Amino acid sequence: MRACREVSTRPLTVKLSPVLPDIPAMARVARDAGAEAVTLVNTMPGLLDRRLGNGSGGLSGPALLPIGVLATRRVREQVGMPVIGVGGVRTTADAREYLAAGAALVAIGTAALADPRVPARIAQELMDG
Ligand SMILES: Cc1cc2nc3c(=O)[nH]c(=O)nc-3n(C[C@H](O)[C@H](O)[C@H](O)COP(=O)(O)O)c2cc1C
Repeated sequence: MRACREVSTRPLTVKLSPVLPDIPAMARVARDAGAEAVTLVNTMPGLLDRRLGNGSGGLSGPALLPIGVLATRRVREQVGMPVIGVGGVRTTADAREYLAAGAALVAIGTAALADPRVPARIAQELMDG
C-alpha cells in the first residue's frame, strides 16, 4: 500500500479477506499506509471435490452476503473510512444491505458473471428508489 501511495495520486482501495481475524484493525493499517477506502470482502477459501479449486479455491456468491455486510458494518463503526461492499449481491435488496451497513459503493462479481445485466438493473432500481 505504501509503495502504491508513493507513486500514485489516485484514490486507492485495499481489498481485504473475510478470514482475517480482525478486519477493522487491518483496515486501519491500510488507511495509515495511505488507502482512501477498503473493499470488503474477497472470496473465502474453500474446497469441493471437482467443483471448487485445485487444492483450494475461492468461494463467492450468496454465502458471502452476511459476512461482507458484517465486515462493512464493523469497519464503518470502528474505523469510519469509506467501504466498497462486495460479496453475494444478486438483488437490489442485497445491495441495500451493504448500503445500510454504511458502504459508499457496492460491487457485484459472481451475479454479473452469471448475467451481465444484473449491475445495471440493480443501479436503476436503486435510483428509482
Ligand atoms: C472468477 C472470479 C475471479 C476473481 N478474481 C479476483 C481478483 O483477481 N482479485 C480480487 O481481488 N478478487 C477477485 N475475485 C473476488 C471478487 O472480486 C469478489 O470479492 C468476490 O467474488 C465476492 O463477490 P461476489 O459474491 O459478488 O462474487 C474474483 C471472483 C471470481 C468469482
